[in-house]
Amino acid sequence: MAQVSEVDPAKLAAARAAVALVQDGMRLGLGTGSTASVMVRELAARAEAEGLRLRCAATSKATADLAENLGLRVEALDAIGWLDLTIDGADEVDGQLHLIKGGGAAHLREKIVAAASDRMVVIADPGKVVETLGAFPLPVEVLEFGFETTRKLIRRALEGLELGGRDVMQRLRGSDPVITDEGNLILDLHLGEIPDPVALARALSAIPGVVEHGLFLGMCDLAIIGRPDGGVTELSREADLDADMLAAEGDRDGV
Ligand code: A5P
Repeated sequence: MAQVSEVDPAKLAAARAAVALVQDGMRLGLGTGSTASVMVRELAARAEAEGLRLRCAATSKATADLAENLGLRVEALDAIGWLDLTIDGADEVDGQLHLIKGGGAAHLREKIVAAASDRMVVIADPGKVVETLGAFPLPVEVLEFGFETTRKLIRRALEGLELGGRDVMQRLRGSDPVITDEGNLILDLHLGEIPDPVALARALSAIPGVVEHGLFLGMCDLAIIGRPDGGVTELSREADLDADMLAAEGDRDGV
């Protein structure tokens, strides 16, 4: 299997449990980020060991490069057409399996790939599980054209949702703007808390310069939360996220 010693054990546990769901012949969506990259390595190792025939669509150039280098067959999403399963990371997961994604600026492609999948499985470490979304700044991919106008319209939309006065920051790498795989810019919305994710998603989607926001609502079917001890907890949409969640019944140790 992949380089176990260098990998966060919680991420590895979640990745392995998700890869165990993969069957020969599947069409897969491959997520982006550090947890997804652990999963890609595990997937490639299992595919090689078992001779699995898989067709993969990647959610970023980085993931496509990694998967191809590891010997996985990566194709354009449109060439595959539809996917059986997408496995991806997340920045936050709540009890309804609503997500914040886009910490790696890949949420546009991630959402397109997830929307083209029968099933979306999220893999994460326990630090990603929250009662209320919003502590992680919400990424919004916006067009360069009219960038400041779009930022104003986002601020106005936030005021309408009683989220006014929050920072709406352009994402930079050093002093340069982060540019997405699609050539767009990222605004990070430092909201603290998102009381009504559905209303916020609707308001952001109504702004013309917004290409896509990082709220994934009703898309995730299963969240696999890895633990440092190597076990996992699987969360369904009805899960009650109290403090004892990670020790709850249904844990699968040593996966
Ligand atoms: C990429 O844009 C994101 O949506 C990632 O899936 C998310 O940031 C999780 O990344 P990590 O697994 O690195 O925390």
